[in-house]
Amino acid sequence: MIVPTRVLFGHAYGKYALGAYNINNLEQAMGLFQGNMDSKAPFIIQISKGARKYTDKRMLEAIIRTADEIWPDALFAVHLDHGDEQACYDCIDSGFYSSVMIDGSHLPFEENIAVTRRVVERAHAKGVSVEAELGQLGGVEEHVSVDEKDAHLTDPQEAKEFIDRTGCDSLACAIGTSHGAFKFTGTQGIHYEIIEAIAALKPGFPLVMHGSSSVPQDEVERINAAGGNLKGAKGVDPEQYLPAAKRGVAKINIDTDGRLVWCRVHRELFRDQPSVFDLRPPGTIFMAEYAKFIASRNQYLGSAGELDGARDYVKANL
Ligand code: G3H
Ligand code: 13P
Ligand code: ZN
Repeated sequence: MIVPTRVLFGHAYGKYALGAYNINNLEQAMGLFQGNMDSKAPFIIQISKGARKYTDKRMLEAIIRTADEIWPDALFAVHLDHGDEQACYDCIDSGFYSSVMIDGSHLPFEENIAVTRRVVERAHAKGVSVEAELGQLGGVEEHVSVDEKDAHLTDPQEAKEFIDRTGCDSLACAIGTSHGAFKFTGTQGIHYEIIEAIAALKPGFPLVMHGSSSVPQDEVERINAAGGNLKGAKGVDPEQYLPAAKRGVAKINIDTDGRLVWCRVHRELFRDQPSVFDLRPPGTIFMAEYAKFIASRNQYLGSAGELDGARDYVKANL
């Protein structure tokens, strides 16, 4: 069942984080739903602008509606990931999305506030929640590339002002992570003190952690052993998810890790079985492996086992 993002946040806040997983195709959708059902977890499906363009934006919506029929017990929100103003309006008007992200993080503070306020007004009129972003993660997002030297962490006082002036429902903060498979060169990690400072100024307000993939080293080694070249890839320690959640991070975004599972499955299969050219053998393995991966992430996030409680909470708060 598709439910409002803000209601899922209400259940998760301070206890666990919702896994927010990106999908681009039906194999990811199948593995995602299976993994969340296996681990009995509520979750968020994310669709990026790139994913909406990959085939036709209606295709992913149809896949999700069908998955909802196949797994009627699933409890999830549908979210636009890293939207610009127009993409937000398209998704709000479609009536399909539970929430949208307006990513004005690359804009000056006042311009970020202005565009976020416009989106909040349109979204709230239709019951859609809005995630905004303040601060800049390092790494590459679809529309903007941020060098480590230009990335800057979110200022908690600015975050409070931003939330108060925009009326956004959740805030993506730069707390030391970055997008992609190459996050850390040394022993850097999550800046818990920033989460704590924002939570002290805005108690109960859901924060979002982008760039949260863990880039499992066994996955990287297997990819490299099967002909890949991901030397030095490194991610967030997944043991840090739950401590972040307990401090106020209600949504943790994971995309790259799913791509690594996909890459490993396909590289190994075509290495080991060079005569295979059918798409279904790797697709079948990928769906099962992705389901296992999702279930394992939900254990770290603390969302595993929360499905029944979340369902009761949704019923009481819709
Ligand atoms: O943060 C970006 C997400 O990983 C989505 O990536 O824009 O390539 O679909 P994408
Ligand atoms: P990763 O690149 O760490 O998976 O982050 C995904 C993300 O933040 C999507 O918005
Ligand atoms: Zn992101």
